Amino acid sequence: MAQGSTKTAIVTGAASGIGLATAKSLQASGYRVFGTSRKATTDTGGGIRMLVCDVTDEASVADMVEAVFGETGRVDLLVNNAGFGISGPAEETSVAQAQAMFDVNLFGVIRTTQAVLPLMRAQKGGRIVNVSSVQGFIPAPYMALYGASKHAVEGYSESLDHEVRGQGIRVVLVEPAFTRTAFDQNLVRSDKPLDIYEADRAGRASFLLDVMKTADTPEVVAKVIVNAATAPKPKRRYAAGPKARQVSLLRRFVPANAFDKAFRNEMRLPPIA
Ligand SMILES: NC(=O)c1ccc[n+]([C@@H]2O[C@H](COP(=O)([O-])OP(=O)(O)OC[C@H]3O[C@@H](n4cnc5c(N)ncnc54)[C@H](OP(=O)(O)O)[C@@H]3O)[C@@H](O)[C@H]2O)c1
Repeated sequence: MAQGSTKTAIVTGAASGIGLATAKSLQASGYRVFGTSRKATTDTGGGIRMLVCDVTDEASVADMVEAVFGETGRVDLLVNNAGFGISGPAEETSVAQAQAMFDVNLFGVIRTTQAVLPLMRAQKGGRIVNVSSVQGFIPAPYMALYGASKHAVEGYSESLDHEVRGQGIRVVLVEPAFTRTAFDQNLVRSDKPLDIYEADRAGRASFLLDVMKTADTPEVVAKVIVNAATAPKPKRRYAAGPKARQVSLLRRFVPANAFDKAFRNEMRLPPIA
C-alpha cells in the first residue's frame, strides 16, 4: 500500500500483556502498527514493527515518533499503554520510588502525547487512547501511588481532550480491572517496609493471587481499546471488561457511604467506619 494511505498506530509497551494484545488487534483491524519496548525485540509476529523506546526519556520518545513518521508519513493513533505498579502501603513508598513510577505512568504519557500532537494537528486528526485502570477512579489501598498515577492520567486526559477536540483530535481513556498479564509479577515492592504493616502484607499478596485467577484476559481489554480507537464519536472513558463495567456503575450510582462499605468488603479490609 502507498505511503500515507494506511492508518498508523503506535502502542507503547507492546512486547507483552495488554500492549501486545492491542498491537495484534489493531493490526487485524487494518492499522499499520508500531509497538515499543525498552528492549530491542523484533519477534511479535503478524507484521508488527517493534521500536526501542523508553518513555521516561524525551529523546528516546522523539526518535521513536520520528522513525514512525519517517516510514509512514502519519500517526493516526497513539495508545499509551506502558506502565507499572508499586505494591505496598502508601507510607512505605519513598517519594523517589513514587516519582520513578509517575515518570512512566504519567510523564511517559505526557512525553509521547506531546511528540505526536503536532503531527496529528498537521494531518487534521488523530486519536490518543490512554490506558488507565479502575484504580484511576476508585481508591487503591496498598497501591495508593499507582492509583494516584492513574487518577492523574485521567485528569490529564479529560482536560487535554477538551483542548484538542477542535483540532480533530480526541483523547480517551480505557479502564481495565485486574487483567491476566505479567503486571502483578512486575509490581515493584514499596521500598521502606514498616513493621506496623507486616500483617497486612500477606493478606494483600493472597488477595492479589485470588483476583488474578478470575481476572480478564488482555484480549478483552484489547478489544475495548480498538473500539475506543475506531468509534466515530468516542466516549470519554471505556470501562474494559465486565468487572470494570460493574465497578464503574457502582462508583457512579451508589451513595458514597454504601460504596465505601462494599469496597472494604470486596478488598477484604476490616469493616471500620
Ligand atoms: N494487568 C492489570 O491488572 C492492569 C489493570 C489495569 C490497568 N493496567 C495497565 O495496563 C497497562 C499495561 O500493563 P500490562 O498489564 O500489560 O502489564 P505488563 O505486561 O507488565 O506490560 C507493561 C508494559 O509497560 C512497559 N514499560 C514499563 N516501563 C516502561 C518504560 N519506562 N518505557 C517504556 N515502556 C515501559 C513494559 O515494556 P518493556 O518492559 O518491554 O519495556 C511492558 O510492556 C499498564 O499501564 C497498566 O497500568 C493493567
